[in-house]
Amino acid sequence: MKIKYNKSQHTDVLSRRQFIKTAGIGTLTLMAGGFDSFLTRSAAAFNQNNHTKPGFVPDLDIALTATPGEVSIFPGNATQTWQFKAKLLKGDSNRLIQLERSYLGPIIRASKGEKVRIRFKNQIPEETIVHWHGLHVPAIMDGHPRYVIPMGQSYLYEFEVKNRAGTYWYHPHPHGRTGPQVYSGLAGLFLVSDEEEKAAGLPTGEYDIPLVIQDRSFDTDNQFVYTSGSRMELMNGFLGKLILVNGMPDFTLPVSTCAYRLRLLNGSNSRIYKLAWQDNRPLAIIGTDGGLLENPVYRRYVFLSPGERIELWADFSGNPIGFETALVSLPFDAGMMNRGRMGRGMMMSGRTAYNQPLPNGAGFSVFKIKVNKSVKKNQTLPQKLSEFTTFKKSNAVNYYRPRQFYLTMRHMQWTINGRTFQMEDVADDEIVRLRTHEIWEINNAGGGMGMMNMMNMPHPIHLHGKQFQVLERSGVTHGGYVDEGWKDTVLLMPGERIRILVGFEDYPGLFLYHCHNLEHEDMGMMRNYFVKI
Ligand code: C2O
Ligand code: CU
Ligand code: CU
Repeated sequence: MKIKYNKSQHTDVLSRRQFIKTAGIGTLTLMAGGFDSFLTRSAAAFNQNNHTKPGFVPDLDIALTATPGEVSIFPGNATQTWQFKAKLLKGDSNRLIQLERSYLGPIIRASKGEKVRIRFKNQIPEETIVHWHGLHVPAIMDGHPRYVIPMGQSYLYEFEVKNRAGTYWYHPHPHGRTGPQVYSGLAGLFLVSDEEEKAAGLPTGEYDIPLVIQDRSFDTDNQFVYTSGSRMELMNGFLGKLILVNGMPDFTLPVSTCAYRLRLLNGSNSRIYKLAWQDNRPLAIIGTDGGLLENPVYRRYVFLSPGERIELWADFSGNPIGFETALVSLPFDAGMMNRGRMGRGMMMSGRTAYNQPLPNGAGFSVFKIKVNKSVKKNQTLPQKLSEFTTFKKSNAVNYYRPRQFYLTMRHMQWTINGRTFQMEDVADDEIVRLRTHEIWEINNAGGGMGMMNMMNMPHPIHLHGKQFQVLERSGVTHGGYVDEGWKDTVLLMPGERIRILVGFEDYPGLFLYHCHNLEHEDMGMMRNYFVKI
């Protein structure tokens, strides 16, 4: 692995290892009131005991490995990566799809209600663990960093797919090293389907296209270059100089004259995209993080922050062969820390951007579309995509006093309510009750005084294990959010506030919530919440 790290990151890893060693023998010193032995017991028992649960009969059984690998991204030397590789032990062969010429892990396809077993083996030379982003699974299956395993060891996942049909994904989640591990290539899609989706009449097969958007920088040897490690760069988050789609630079999607379902994932460490069609057609949005919307919505542009997914209906039946357009990222203001390094309004393509800095908020083409085949399909966008019952705001146990979270900078460190991540630390105001609904208010108004406000930045906030609803936003001065459906990650631009409604209906235990800017997350802009029985 030829990623360049700075010294302070190495020290972080060392001290974390020592902490884990201590935690392993049962000294959980940092816990707030309200815990029973639930945590200690489950963590220890599960990590050392890798036997399958009796009675669990998987529909899908997969051996998944995180391993060093290489892939040819440019002519010349292959790029050294870390990647997920998988073998199907049980299930239809179409349940595991390897994207060609890509470092991305295989796409795992499952149906709602199916039982999935994943035998994960770590073959990279540092600790890791896999998290199923967006999936509603028990705490012990969620890939919390306290479950990390060293090289050579395995972790067994067994869970039932409870989610609606939608575009979910998986990636590593060790504390302090999620950014570099995802950057090295460890990420993949987890697509869920269900009966309702099948009935919706959306494009399938070759007309259903996954598109994972990431940014990377390369040295002259074609190797990934990660952050310089400077405090300022980490506080901004890593920004690559080239945009890759499904692991490929200068990506062009050849299409036929018909309708497509495009599933977009922002798998970047910290880059935010302001997506729009180059030919000015509106974006027809059919799904978000937690699956299909009830009805399609239209936007001129939409923000997609790290971790978020959006699904588009894209119809090229009205375009002639030879027609070209692109999905672009429009220029936007990404806050004080990013200002002033490049003239905004500048559009750059992948190639010309090579080795030029590409600030968050710069404009560029994400991928090209080229119509090259004529087909007669005459599909129309269904006006009814799905149906769901939303939670009731009035059912929230804290209806009159929403739980509050402030995103602020303290001692050159991004925090949530002034706190940073400690492996098993839960504050009193981070404990929720099982079988309740709550309103959470997240505030990105900055620290309130002078310098603090100037250090304000966008933060994509993600909750583990839950799909939630957005109730309201304030301070928003643009039209780039799609809040109509289920979400697990929401972007807050500087000065914005959001209220979400979350249900803790089942699955007690310890879950994470954090900023999905992976450098912010690694620096500790992450906390636990505890669902108490
Ligand atoms: Cu994409 Cu903590 O997760
Ligand atoms: Cu997650
Ligand atoms: Cu952040």
